Amino acid sequence: MAKQVSIAVVGSGYVGLVAAACFAEMGHRVICVDNDDAKVTMLREGGIPIHEEYLPQLLGKQRQNMVEFTTDLRAATQAAEAIFIAVGTPQSRAGSADLSFVDAVASEIARSIDSYKVIVEKSTVPVYTNEWIRRVIERNGVPKDMFDVTSNPEFLREGTAVVDFLHADRIVIGTATERAAEVLRRIYEPLTSGEYYRSGSAVPGPRGEDDPPPILQTSTKAAEIIKHASNAFLATKISFINIVANICEAAGADVEEVARGMGMDTRIGPKFLRAGIGYGGSCFPKDVAAFRHVAEQVGVEFGLLQEVEKINEEQKLRFFQKVRSALWTFRGKKIGVLGLAFKGGTDDIRESPALDIVQRLLHEGCIVSAYDPAAEQRAKDVIPSSKQMIYVADPYAAAQDADALLILNDWREFAELDFKRLHHTLRYPIIIDGRNMFDPTTMSSLGFTYLSVGRPGSSQPQDPIPTYYLPRQREAAKR
Ligand code: UGA
Repeated sequence: MAKQVSIAVVGSGYVGLVAAACFAEMGHRVICVDNDDAKVTMLREGGIPIHEEYLPQLLGKQRQNMVEFTTDLRAATQAAEAIFIAVGTPQSRAGSADLSFVDAVASEIARSIDSYKVIVEKSTVPVYTNEWIRRVIERNGVPKDMFDVTSNPEFLREGTAVVDFLHADRIVIGTATERAAEVLRRIYEPLTSGEYYRSGSAVPGPRGEDDPPPILQTSTKAAEIIKHASNAFLATKISFINIVANICEAAGADVEEVARGMGMDTRIGPKFLRAGIGYGGSCFPKDVAAFRHVAEQVGVEFGLLQEVEKINEEQKLRFFQKVRSALWTFRGKKIGVLGLAFKGGTDDIRESPALDIVQRLLHEGCIVSAYDPAAEQRAKDVIPSSKQMIYVADPYAAAQDADALLILNDWREFAELDFKRLHHTLRYPIIIDGRNMFDPTTMSSLGFTYLSVGRPGSSQPQDPIPTYYLPRQREAAKR
């Protein structure tokens, strides 16, 4: 039986709340701290501020028992052996990460320390943050042997965060001392020993007793860079396949076939090669900018990331132009929209390419009727409901009398649409799919004009012969 550790998690956003629930699930005692009174009250009363699979079950099981919620950081610090900092690191105006919340929390922890503590940075932060936290704590008069600052980045995707946590690909712990490493290893032992997966009530996922997640111990700086570099690499993979999709579209090839062929090379791998309308969310856009900033600060040119961002911006615009080319004019047209969150399976609309496209349509004078299984409330905070922006309760209501239907994120339920019904419901049977959810041949046999991303027939036909091909043709003709 692994040993229980008393843990404080500071910040009850996506990362903090999932980490708190999962640590409790692994058998530890957890105090989750937030300075937002209303949020703490809601959590104490059984409410959950975010949409995340398995989180209600985990918190329902552990609340009152293994997880407490409080606003009192001092008491939580004193009760805990390890304190995880999981507060927000928003993007500053300059593009770098704004670390003022981390700074404030570190100072308060320092003022509360009364015995040895392991302070764990879990928020995504630039390299050197660990060192800064250590300096802040020392400046507050805490002796060196009373604490260690470590880095334990998270690799959780929204929507599948609980499974990603409990069935991690890897657990990275960046520490400078063996004393702190021992505490972190103890915390993750229920997973790394396989013990967690033996329990009948374990959350199901890819890991198991015989295949537990590996722990990778590194320096604190390497751990910090691993997080930024991983997100930047994944964003690069997406921008790469999006540009390849644009080439496929122009050349008349199918990007899905190309991605499959590339992904079968084990050095490339099949994941994150889905072409679409670009990446969004609270992580990739912010982390790519922050990593670019880190590179700049240490004097390294990382123009590749600028290009990744540029491709991502252009991909949304390109999709918007595709809608325009299908409809000719916009003013007064009714567009049905499926999906508002930055991807399926979440209610998060931060940096959502879907919302970006909806805003462009509204700006052009379209009437939008939109459906998202979870993001409606959050979307309404950004685009209030009006005569021009209508929120509806199901996909068919979104399609009702619409001049075209756009698919802007990849909720699983969209894959099960009743196309016969949709065909009757739409004013014109035009579907423009920004996530390549359907097979173009099937869609056209069902009577739809179906445009998607990077596949034959993905856009209205233009010049079919690329100009680079012409000189060679001429030469061949001469011979
Ligand atoms: C991402 C990373 O995947 C996590 O590992 C990381 O921990 C997290 O950021 C974070 O730093 O907190 P998340 O933002 O939840 O997770 O979402 P992803 O599933 O990675 O998707 C990001 C965006 O890329 C979405 O807009 C998605 O639609 C898009 N995407 C993803 C594609 O366009 N194509 C793909 O093949 C994959």
